[in-house]
Amino acid sequence: MRLSNRAKTALIFVFTVTAPTALAHQGHHHAHPGAEATSPMTRKEGESEIKVIREDYKRQVEPIFQKSCMDCHSAQTRYPWYHKIPGIKQMLDSDIREARHHLDFSDGYPFKSHATPIEDLDAIAESIQKGTMPPLSYRMMHRNEAITDEEKKTVLDWVEKSKTLLKK
Ligand code: HEC
Repeated sequence: MRLSNRAKTALIFVFTVTAPTALAHQGHHHAHPGAEATSPMTRKEGESEIKVIREDYKRQVEPIFQKSCMDCHSAQTRYPWYHKIPGIKQMLDSDIREARHHLDFSDGYPFKSHATPIEDLDAIAESIQKGTMPPLSYRMMHRNEAITDEEKKTVLDWVEKSKTLLKK
């Protein structure tokens, strides 16, 4: 759950040689429509639990993930100006590719991932509890995108409730 050392070194380098005021982002988040309600005709077993999880996620957790996670774990990256720098660009792109390969939050819940839904929830809770996500190098560059204690609690509560629903 770490950026490679190479990435860290370069990010720290960029951070230390540039004024924080220059860290303005280009681009912006694209609002994306939420998952549509499934018609009762096509509803499968477990569908209503997923719907509750999805709606809780959208209301409570997605705004937090948009702020702190989606620059890497989604198609909605707000690229920083230093993404233009050759070398840095490739590095950030490869981290974003890797982050999205693990977990992609682009289309709401359920997330795109190679693990099971429970494993994803556990990994999210662990990364939040241990403070490994968002990675340190990112927090240094984006001080306002760190996740607050209150937001951590919101995410962890959602994880717990969702796990209970999934195990029903
Ligand atoms: C700067 C980019 C970046 C940001 C921002 C970021 N991540 Fe990640 N994340 C990664 C990368 C790269 C990986 C894959 C490599 C690794 O596990 O370190 C990853 C992996 C993960 C994993 C999978 C770990 C596993 O055990 O498989 C989880 C869960 C995760 N991130 C959650 C989050 C959450 C939640 C946030 C926001 C609070 C977040 N990440 C923000 C880059 C990022």
